[in-house]
Amino acid sequence: MAIIAPSLLAADFLHLERECTMVNASEAEWLHLDVMDGRFVPNISFGLPVIEMVTRINKKISDVHLMIVEPEKYIGAFKAAGAQVLSIHLEACPHLHRNIEQIRSLGMDAGVAVNPHSPIDLLKDILHDIQVVNLMSVNPGFGGQKFIPHTLVKIKLLRRMIDEKGMNVKIQIDGGVTVENAAEIIAAGADVLVVGNTVFKSSDPISTIHRLKQL
Ligand code: DX5
Ligand code: ZN
Repeated sequence: MAIIAPSLLAADFLHLERECTMVNASEAEWLHLDVMDGRFVPNISFGLPVIEMVTRINKKISDVHLMIVEPEKYIGAFKAAGAQVLSIHLEACPHLHRNIEQIRSLGMDAGVAVNPHSPIDLLKDILHDIQVVNLMSVNPGFGGQKFIPHTLVKIKLLRRMIDEKGMNVKIQIDGGVTVENAAEIIAAGADVLVVGNTVFKSSDPISTIHRLKQL
């Protein structure tokens, strides 16, 4: 059974409280919060003040995905805003190990997000220091894109790497997850499914989350 992490990016921003209440009432375990800076990715989403408000009422694990350059400048600020899992991009961090240590020293779980083109091998020497790998299954920047099928190969490879060493690292899949493709993604070895449009644009989000939990 996978952990479901609805992505607030696809929510109705005029009614964020209602959307958070829905997630709280659902079987989702995490709430995924996408931060975009218009530099690392070609889009801007929301930032600290929104996350601070949302985490006040969120009863799930606050999972913040930073799609920003120089994320190390904001690690303390996201902790203060309520982040519990904080993911930074491999491609944005020349000193990834140092930045992971910063996240861990503040008591958060550390995640490394990787773009579709980045080889899994690049994670080899950081895996034992982190709790989550966010394997991007679309190019980051926008919700509602199509799942890139090659991600399935990457999930299987990463699953093997993690299991061979007996490590306790969760594989999170982010982008284009639907009720139709979720079973295959879980079978490949995913632990956490990020679901934006599939949940928030569905006519009955709570039962969509329930269906995903059944897989
Ligand atoms: C994309 C974000 C995703 C996005 C997923 O850059 O990282 O978390 O919200 O949205 P869907 O599930 O609609 O593809
Ligand atoms: Zn995300």
